[in-house]
Amino acid sequence: MKRIGVLTSGGDAPGMNAALRAVTRMAINNGLEVMGIRKGYFGLVNDDMSILSRRDVSDIVQRGGTKLKTARCKEFQQIEGIKKAHEVIKARKIDAIVAIGGDGTFRGCKDLYDHTQIPCVGIPATIDNDLAYTDYTIGFDTAANTIVHAINNLRDTMISHDRVCIVEVMGRKCGDLALNAGIAGGAEIILVPEKRMSLSTIIRNIKDNVAAGKSSEIILLAEGFCKAETLKDEIIRELGMTVWTSRLGHIQRGGTPTVQDRILAARLGCAAVDVLLKGKTNHLVGIKNHRVVTKKISEALEAKAKFNKKLYKEAKIISL
Ligand code: F6P
Repeated sequence: MKRIGVLTSGGDAPGMNAALRAVTRMAINNGLEVMGIRKGYFGLVNDDMSILSRRDVSDIVQRGGTKLKTARCKEFQQIEGIKKAHEVIKARKIDAIVAIGGDGTFRGCKDLYDHTQIPCVGIPATIDNDLAYTDYTIGFDTAANTIVHAINNLRDTMISHDRVCIVEVMGRKCGDLALNAGIAGGAEIILVPEKRMSLSTIIRNIKDNVAAGKSSEIILLAEGFCKAETLKDEIIRELGMTVWTSRLGHIQRGGTPTVQDRILAARLGCAAVDVLLKGKTNHLVGIKNHRVVTKKISEALEAKAKFNKKLYKEAKIISL
C-alpha cells in the first residue's frame, strides 16, 4: 500500500478536521501518500482531489466544519457512480479509502468495497451519536456542549419571565443529544424518540413541576420525537399557558471542537491508518469503554441502537 484517499461525507461534525489531520500525519509517518478527496463521494466520482502534506493539515485541529468539504452524493448510491469512482481510484493509484462520517458514509464504504474490493476503513463523525457499535462519535460532545450553552442562555430569560420553553435539538432518530444535553443543562422534561411519551403525561409532568415550585421550565425535545411547534400548540390547547420555542438548528453542527472530540478524533484517525497497515479492511474504528475497537462495516450497520434507559430514568428523578 502506497497511497490512501481520505474523505469527509454526510453532515459535517466538529472534530472532522482533527480526524483528517491525524489520518494524514499518521499515514505520512508510515511512508504513505495521502490524497485529500473533496466533497465526500462526489469528489471520488468526479475526480476532485489533491495530495495532502503535513502542512496542508496545519491550523485545522481547532476548527469546526471540514476542510475537505462534504456532501451527500446521490450518484454514488447508483452502481454507475461506484464504477466511475472505481475508475478514478485506479487512475489516481489510490490503494485504500478512509471515510469520515456517519451511517450514510459507511453504507457508501460498504458498497464501494462490495463492488470493487477497494479496502475501506470508516471513522465515526456525526453529532447524532447514532451508531450502536461505538460509545461516542466525533462531534457529539461539542454539539452537546453547544446545546447546554444555549439552554443556559435561554434559562436566564425564561426564569426572569416565568416562562416555559421547548428547545428542539437535532439527532435524527437518536435521543442521545437531547438526553445528554438535557441532563447537563438541567432540563425539566426530556423528550426522545426512544421513549414515547403521551401528551397527557407531558402535561402531567409540566403540572408536577409547577406544583413542586418551578415557575419556569425547559423542555428539551429531540427532533425525532416531534416538531417543537406541534408540541407547543398541543400544550397551549391543553393548559392555556403561553409557551416559547427555540429550534437550535445548524448552530449545533458548527463551532470549535471540545477537547474530548479532538482526542477522540486523534485516536480514531491514528487507529484507522493502523487498521489499514495491518491489512484489515472493510472495518470501522470506534470507542468502547474508553478503548479503541474495530467492527466489520456490515455488522456495525446492523447493530441495535443503544439508548441508555437508566440515565433517562435518572434524568427524570433529578430534574424535579
Ligand atoms: O446527521 C446530522 C444532522 O445534523 C442531523 O442531526 C439532522 O437531522 C440533519 O443532519 C440535518 O441535515 P441537513 O443539514 O442536510 O439539513
